Amino acid sequence: MSQPLNLSDLESQLASLSAEEGLKLVADLFPGKVVFSTSLGQEDQVITQLIASQKLSIQIFSLDTGRLFPETLELLSRTESKYKTRIKVYYPETASVEKLVEDIGINGFYESVENRKSCCFVRKVAPLKRALAGNAVWVTGLRAEQSANRSEMKRIEWDEANQIIKYNPLLDWTFDQMISYIEEQKIPYNPLHNQGFISIGCAPCTRAILPGEDARAGRWWWEDSKKECGLHAK
Ligand code: ADX
Ligand code: SF4
Repeated sequence: MSQPLNLSDLESQLASLSAEEGLKLVADLFPGKVVFSTSLGQEDQVITQLIASQKLSIQIFSLDTGRLFPETLELLSRTESKYKTRIKVYYPETASVEKLVEDIGINGFYESVENRKSCCFVRKVAPLKRALAGNAVWVTGLRAEQSANRSEMKRIEWDEANQIIKYNPLLDWTFDQMISYIEEQKIPYNPLHNQGFISIGCAPCTRAILPGEDARAGRWWWEDSKKECGLHAK
């Protein structure tokens, strides 16, 4: 298949492909320049399986904010063992974290949206920029169903903030479709999902949700903001 001239050509090619086929196409079109960010969430575990089972040359990386649940790090290790692959882990810069904690306090993110965004910036957004630098395509586990903001996203789009093509192969997947795939393929997942946690981020900023609550209600639950940390904000 020839290289698409622009993003809308690529988008139309991807429209007729499954997530599995789409990942292969993108890996072939941009050799060595495709990276996948995993938070070890259920969507991301599906994508890891699709990449590993086809042995695609896509570097998998994770952002360890320093405030993740122990269960998430344990799953990272289990995932590496299962797929016999290394997940590259990026950390926030020491000096920036020390300055942040000095300025807002160790849990200062509860005090204002501004503080919370500063913490997300230092611990996630800045390391993400380092992880994406020099690459052509960033694969994520975003699904349209997750929120109103995400329902407007495209399968493939230009990410102005990071100057990279962003590819969301599971954009159209439903929650039930994802869970069935995880069960069928025996994909390892975070045990917190069995305790009412759906969307899992940093431990102090994530809580379990009640049946019927919005899937992202447990993230930054004390805020009424758009509930995005800046990784995917427009
Ligand atoms: S967040 O912006 O609210 O934190 P969410 O947890 O829904 O995002 O995850 C959406 C996608 O963002 C994931 O599928 C993954 O691609 C990326 N992502 C989020 N958190 C991380 C992380 N800690 N490390 C790597 N990728 C992440
Ligand atoms: Fe900081 Fe919470 Fe954002 Fe994690 S989710 S980076 S702890 S504000």
